Amino acid sequence: MNAIEVSGLNTFYGKSHILHDVALAAKEGSVTTLLGRNGAGKTTTMRSIMGLTLPRSGSIKVFGVEVIRQPPHRVARQRVGYVPEGRRVFPNLTVEDNLKVPQGSSEGPFDIPRIYQLFPRLEERRMNRGRQLSGGEQEMLSIARALLLNPKVLILDEPSQGLAPLIVKDVFRIVTTMKQEGMTVLLVEQNVRMALEVADTAYVLDHGVVVHEGPAAALAGDEALIQSLAGASAEEWDLDKA
Ligand SMILES: Nc1ncnc2c1ncn2[C@@H]1O[C@H](COP(=O)(O)OP(=O)(O)OP(=O)(O)O)[C@@H](O)[C@H]1O
Ligand SMILES: [Mg+2]
Repeated sequence: MNAIEVSGLNTFYGKSHILHDVALAAKEGSVTTLLGRNGAGKTTTMRSIMGLTLPRSGSIKVFGVEVIRQPPHRVARQRVGYVPEGRRVFPNLTVEDNLKVPQGSSEGPFDIPRIYQLFPRLEERRMNRGRQLSGGEQEMLSIARALLLNPKVLILDEPSQGLAPLIVKDVFRIVTTMKQEGMTVLLVEQNVRMALEVADTAYVLDHGVVVHEGPAAALAGDEALIQSLAGASAEEWDLDKA
């Protein structure tokens, strides 16, 4: 069963046609990555799924339920957790208070003790304010907050952005842990190598068009294909990041 199934998605910003008949599926319990250079439309795709940006046409199904053009809280109610690009923690709240913000949590394994077990660093820093955290800690906190709503699908938009390689490894480890928990993960990334390591399925978006779709392992092993998909912007794809 597909946890998320998008088809024929067209999204505009004003008169700019950004997404062109985008179709993608995230199989339940798998990790699906959406790759593509700056401005390809990755965030727009996620915002369209979440109802934060209204698509003009298409279909977005969450576990078979049509949610296109539903407001964000209705999409979230289908057990979709969303960690937006650029980490939004409350800078003046402590870690612990940031974790108390999610409301109306559904049944599931994640509560604050379990979160501290998963993210020992957050427990160590639980009395620190959001603004005192490193980028990596802020990312962990953003993910932790989404997990407290016990989503079945977790959407992460460029979680590795701006983080040191060692911290990136920690973030990707969480993705693997979530998969082991049976969660479906939709991972937007520019860090192609790391994303392909944790993902089962990969999509590549270019100028709002899906230009590649297939098993992540096959793409990971096809250097020439990666290079041709990245085209002139190989460096924007962070191909050298370990
Ligand atoms: N609010 C907006 N208004 C108008 N145009 C926008 C807006 N947000 C994004 N765009 C444009 O839509 C296109 C897709 O942007 P989007 O943010 O989805 O790309 P992205 O793949 O997430 O890029 P990045 O890797 O830099 O995050 C870009 O051309 C961008 O300039
Ligand atoms: Mg983006």
